[in-house]
Amino acid sequence: MKSRNDLLNTEMPESPASRATFHRKILILFAHPSVERSEAGQPLAQAAARTEGITLVDLYAEYPTFIIDVDREQDRLLAHDVVVFLHPLYWYSTPAILKEWQDLVLEHDFAYGSKGTALHGKIFFSAITAGGTETAYCDKGYNHFSIRQLLHPLEQMAMLCGMVYLPPFALFGARTALEEGRIDAHVADWVQVLRALRDNRLDIEAARELPKLNFKLNSILREG
Ligand SMILES: Cc1cc2nc3c(=O)[nH]c(=O)nc-3n(C[C@H](O)[C@H](O)[C@H](O)COP(=O)(O)O)c2cc1C
Repeated sequence: MKSRNDLLNTEMPESPASRATFHRKILILFAHPSVERSEAGQPLAQAAARTEGITLVDLYAEYPTFIIDVDREQDRLLAHDVVVFLHPLYWYSTPAILKEWQDLVLEHDFAYGSKGTALHGKIFFSAITAGGTETAYCDKGYNHFSIRQLLHPLEQMAMLCGMVYLPPFALFGARTALEEGRIDAHVADWVQVLRALRDNRLDIEAARELPKLNFKLNSILREG
């Protein structure tokens, strides 16, 4: 059976970001409890791991017993300019390890509070895959709320920490997307967004207002 490392193809040194001279260093915290069964999230994680200037952390592989190394995680945050939670939508939220990560890592006087300025000015957003269709995520749909509304706790987490919040990069109807062969196009968009953020070619102010980051990519990406 393939190991998580094989599946994610992350045998390269973990932190290409630390050696390169990109405009922004991007940290992706990937949380998928069963990556070997993942059809949508795994290709996104693999593509990110192969992109220069990106640090991909596989949280379930690093912390299988949920004993999170707080100092290590805080050091990682300090070393990057953009923080991304990459995960499947589970019960309209994150898989459990990302909640544990928030509870332990985002300490008072580090992430918030009068002396807690470590994350000020950094960019935060989620990259999610969801089983439900996009049309279900509105007040008249069976999920009743938009994805931005459902992710308000993460938006407010970012705001309390003085971060710049961007809407989620979202793939809805993940199974249908796979069956219709749309995953590759989504991965291509994802890599475009990551490169643009890294190289300062993404219009942050325009992006902040969108319902999702991959709403109209042409309107927020500048030519490289
Ligand atoms: C425990 C659990 C909870 C889920 N909750 C949601 C949900 O709230 N909304 C939704 O649209 N899909 C939900 N799903 C479907 C997953 O989001 C979907 O299968 C996943 O994003 C597909 O990506 P993957 O192939 O990488 O696993 C849930 C799946 C599981 C196993």
